[in-house]
Amino acid sequence: MSEVTELSYLGIEASDIHAWRRFAGECLGMDVTGDAALTIRLDDHASRLFVTPGELDDLAFAGFEVASEADLETIAARATAAGSSVEEGKPETARARGVQRLLHLEDPSGLPIELCVGPTITKPCKTPLVPSGFVTGQGGLGHIVVRSLDSEASDRFYCDLLGFRLTDVVRLEIKPGLVIDIRFLHTNHRHHTLAFAEGPLPKRLDHFMVEAGGVDDVGRALERCIDADVPIARSLGRHANDGMFSFYSTSPSGFSVEFGTGGRLVDDDTWQVKTHDQMSLWGHRARTA
Ligand SMILES: [Fe+2]
Repeated sequence: MSEVTELSYLGIEASDIHAWRRFAGECLGMDVTGDAALTIRLDDHASRLFVTPGELDDLAFAGFEVASEADLETIAARATAAGSSVEEGKPETARARGVQRLLHLEDPSGLPIELCVGPTITKPCKTPLVPSGFVTGQGGLGHIVVRSLDSEASDRFYCDLLGFRLTDVVRLEIKPGLVIDIRFLHTNHRHHTLAFAEGPLPKRLDHFMVEAGGVDDVGRALERCIDADVPIARSLGRHANDGMFSFYSTSPSGFSVEFGTGGRLVDDDTWQVKTHDQMSLWGHRARTA
């Protein structure tokens, strides 16, 4: 089945570009360039995050890669047949994203999705503050956790049209009588590239996650965030389902960025879907104001 292969890039519309430059560069150790708008690199991709000025302070678009133009066409035909609107991206948009070609779609909750082919690969960037480097490769940029207005519609869109597979579900009682399912989907060996939940989330994006190569780099990133007075949304902890050892900082746009290491890998031949009743084995304590 033609499918999305990885999370390629994210677009963030932010009201405070200066704060983002400092947060992404000095705290998270990413390679940041630009002034009025930022291009952020983590690896050998020419761009992984685009931060552009605006009042949204949320995810503006998520770019998912497919392997070939033929796959792009197949997915587009499948989405169109299912009633989704698919639009060819303008050549100047493709150039701005550093890809050969892209298509615009919208997920059922209104999140702009870009399906792209042919990202620009260049010399790996240097990340001296993260000496172990960011873990990307075939696992892509990382993962995103987004708001869903209708779980069944999100399932159909991401699994039936884009080719994601269910990894597992975390079922939580977030307040007495209110149980939510967070559905974790994979599209490569990364435990999840996307998760969604129908819940009282204030923004499209709950968080995005980047993964470093070792625990010391997670600890150092946490220290830099604390030293820069960046709010720590969730303390260090280890997730029950993907085993990620991580902490969550609050970005200048209000959503969180998870910085972790050691995420579990999925082998489709042997993986068995489970339901977990806890988010974390320990830690990840929410910040109390
Ligand atoms: Fe996460």
